[in-house]
Amino acid sequence: MGWQALPAGQVRIAAGHFSLLGCCPDSRTSEWAETTMNQALHLPAYPVTDDCIGGVAAFEHTQPWIYGLDNPYLHGVYAPTTLELSESGLRVEGELPKDLLGTYFRNGPNPIHQPENRYHPFDGDGMVHAVSFCEGEASYRNRYVETVALAEELQVGRSTSNGVMGPFDFDASPFGIKDTSNTDLFYYAGGLMTLWYNAGHPYRLNPQTLETEGYFELEGRSHRRLSAHSKVDWTTGELLFFDYGDEPPYMTCGVADPSGKLLHEAEIDLPGPRLPHDIGFTPNYTILHDLPFFHDPKVLERHHLRVLTFHLDMPTRFGLIPRYGRGDEIRWFECEPCYILHVSNCWEEGDWVVMDGCRSTNPMPSATNGEGELSHMLAYMRLEANNYRWRFNLRTGEVREGNIDDLNTEFNKTNPLYAGVKSRFAYHQRIPLLEEGGHTLRFTGLVKYDNETGCRQQWDYGEGVFGSEAVYAPKVGATRENAEDDGYVVTLVTDSTDWSSHCLVFDATDVAAGPIARVTLPQRVPFGFHASWAPGI
Ligand SMILES: [Fe+2]
Repeated sequence: MGWQALPAGQVRIAAGHFSLLGCCPDSRTSEWAETTMNQALHLPAYPVTDDCIGGVAAFEHTQPWIYGLDNPYLHGVYAPTTLELSESGLRVEGELPKDLLGTYFRNGPNPIHQPENRYHPFDGDGMVHAVSFCEGEASYRNRYVETVALAEELQVGRSTSNGVMGPFDFDASPFGIKDTSNTDLFYYAGGLMTLWYNAGHPYRLNPQTLETEGYFELEGRSHRRLSAHSKVDWTTGELLFFDYGDEPPYMTCGVADPSGKLLHEAEIDLPGPRLPHDIGFTPNYTILHDLPFFHDPKVLERHHLRVLTFHLDMPTRFGLIPRYGRGDEIRWFECEPCYILHVSNCWEEGDWVVMDGCRSTNPMPSATNGEGELSHMLAYMRLEANNYRWRFNLRTGEVREGNIDDLNTEFNKTNPLYAGVKSRFAYHQRIPLLEEGGHTLRFTGLVKYDNETGCRQQWDYGEGVFGSEAVYAPKVGATRENAEDDGYVVTLVTDSTDWSSHCLVFDATDVAAGPIARVTLPQRVPFGFHASWAPGI
């Protein structure tokens, strides 16, 4: 596979500055585990954590400070790991297909230092987990994203900046909070690009070793801010990017060539700062989001807090701009108010542009009793959303929109070979609502949608088993001549009954049949955000 894996079972005890991580040499492992277990057994009651995700678990390889905090995003399936491993020849149940060649990459939060303020998952230092497949075998490695902010904190041995819950300090960081690069990632221009949800500075990782090589610079672009869910058009190899911020221009979008050279960038005129999360694209258009869920810049200026409000009296606007168009060429379409995290796919159909995605009409679900000061954060992370379709008529300006299905799902992905062209299938994560026992963001099953019919197939991961974003992995050599679902779906799961983690591979034509192969990973993999597939890497 082109990279040097360590022998099976060998732990990469991070050297130098990572001695601060709390990683423990093997000789201390038993003592460490016993101490941690004792800490966990003698904890005060953790009402919020207990209510949201169940009892606090004692882990051998985690940060000890988590056991002093009643915050569900630091425990159980969210608890950080302190290990960086590289292991090949993993145990496989079932059979890994020979035409599955490439790597599943997944980013996510993995905090090193105890937070200064209320911890939110966007604040955790980025960690990338990778599972590579070649000739029916699988290997695994994981590494921190060594951001500038993390390096500064490792120097002083503590957290030095606030997180998403504020207060924001623009003297301490250009973003007012810590840019963790923990949200998204994909393979582009020979490197692995990691991105932060809040349009941070992208980092470049070696896709074989996962070592951080520095900022991911685009040649010819003077600033480097870039949002998560910038994306690669697999047909042209171009990077279609966007960013957003508190100062005009509130949004830009652009194109870079397959080698990482800037080709085009346009400034987008918005009424004020916004919080878009994704874009869509077709061969001719980029679809930008102006969503009525944003903060008041005056409140940010006065109180250093980003207080988000969902403006039910404002439309959601989608801006269709030619891929190489100027800002004044954008055409806005007004729709029913909503918030959108993730687009599944977009395409052109005669005079129409179609966009499938997950839509929320309630981006701030109600808080519950007992969540206290965490209630605001927990409500935001509940994610009420369902599969939805918008249609924009370029000739008449007409908009049509409606549900594809009403099941609560998110983290939707499609076959990347079909990105920008008409597609039928999407692969979502099932997220139980509060009334279904889902107190927060945990994925309990894989849902395959046929968006033409609205029919779905479903595979539940099992009681106490939680998944990661699933990606579609085309078979080696596949093109759009192959059937759209003639490939595989890959995800990671963590089992809270024994804290084992596995990589699951499904036949995309029949996800309801369950995984065709199950790879045992060498460590517990904590909850994460986004994943992507890199063919042949
Ligand atoms: Fe996202």
